[in-house]
Amino acid sequence: MSLPHRISRRTAALALALAFGLIGLAAACGQPARPRSELSGAELFALVKCDACHGPGGAGTFLGPRLERIAANWSRADLSEYIRDPAPFRERDARLRELSRGFTAHMRAFPELSDDERDRVADWLSALP
Ligand code: HEC
Repeated sequence: MSLPHRISRRTAALALALAFGLIGLAAACGQPARPRSELSGAELFALVKCDACHGPGGAGTFLGPRLERIAANWSRADLSEYIRDPAPFRERDARLRELSRGFTAHMRAFPELSDDERDRVADWLSALP
């Protein structure tokens, strides 16, 4: 094997490593790790995977209803509490029981969201058209 050939292979390997490094860096810059305290209600909705059932932006899927005109039925405080623990609301609200009938699983509780985070999600939900 000639010397220039060996060098070019090494150079190519280095260039490849650099390229992957740069791609990794670019990806990291594209999604900076922001503290949860800075995330909007919509971002929290995606972060804790409400969208797994309700779809992106609350558009609805076969696992959860479309989230629309929420403010017509909910105060912000009730909404925030419902997200923390939905079961008691279902028990006393016939409309919710009727709504959940079309889905195989119930809305689950979200104890992993803080009071403040639930309020931000509730504000975002309340503004949905
Ligand atoms: C496992 C699937 C699932 C997940 C995850 C889920 N939901 Fe739900 N959600 C439902 C179902 C099903 C209902 C219907 C009522 C019920 O079962 O309590 C519902 C009902 C609702 C309602 C009431 C809608 C109305 O018209 O009054 C709101 C608001 C809501 N979800 C918000 C959220 C938010 C916010 C999150 C994330 C913090 C979330 N959901 C996560 C399945 C889910």
